[in-house]
Amino acid sequence: MTSRSPEIVVLPDEAAVAAAAAARVVDDCRRAVAGRGAAALVLSGGSTPRALYACLAAEPHRTRMPWDRLDLFWGDERGVPPDDPRSNYRLVRETLLAHVPVPPERVHPMPADATDPDAAARAYAETLRARVPAGPGGWPACDVVLLGLGADAHTASLFPRTPALDVADRAVVAYDVADLGMRRMTLTVPVFTHAAEVLFIVCGEAKADAVHAVLEGPLRPDDLPAQRIRPVTGRVAWFLDASAARLLPQTRAASRGGGA
Ligand code: 6PG
Repeated sequence: MTSRSPEIVVLPDEAAVAAAAAARVVDDCRRAVAGRGAAALVLSGGSTPRALYACLAAEPHRTRMPWDRLDLFWGDERGVPPDDPRSNYRLVRETLLAHVPVPPERVHPMPADATDPDAAARAYAETLRARVPAGPGGWPACDVVLLGLGADAHTASLFPRTPALDVADRAVVAYDVADLGMRRMTLTVPVFTHAAEVLFIVCGEAKADAVHAVLEGPLRPDDLPAQRIRPVTGRVAWFLDASAARLLPQTRAASRGGGA
């Protein structure tokens, strides 16, 4: 694991975070396409990325992004049908896919509601390996990964004190999250730590404690799963609004856009 500290970008509000993160995503994808002719973009769920996806679907990003060269994956999915309001696929379909020309065969929803979740997880891992070149250690080297952060410092569907945190031999797992009473499917820590760039997109006062604990507190990787996302080969950046960054030392942010 590299001990390189992550880049931290603090913006005044959620809209500014979405705009800055969207620009970074497009630049990263354009760079990957220039380098290998394709870009593997891993999308996050929840509510925060909604504004980011809307930015990507609007100009100038709609024109700048090489949509026909992307492979879209999900970092995690809830165990619900794809048209369920809680579905991360439905979030992306409504805010992004309905507005941009990604070829359907390059959109890879995560089948978290499959009747055989373990088989579905293994199949998703095979799709990932088939579409994304392996990097060091043989893990698929995704070009850009978007992640959110829960108030409990979970990320993707890597929840505190769950068996998914320690999986080191599989790229995708499905399991029942007792605290949620729901099945989840998620990419595992090694996939995230072998990505070229991981972007945490975190907004809101409710996340301030978790952001501080993850970035400034003692290492507690079982209680703070996001602390496990430490790049082996790539980079990690945090895009925060002023509310989520409220408890960070002023000096911590590499850049503070606007009046943050
Ligand atoms: C999910 C996400 C999850 C999310 C955080 C933050 O499926 O819920 O992948 O990890 O990023 O829970 O969610 P909000 O953006 O809704 O606060």
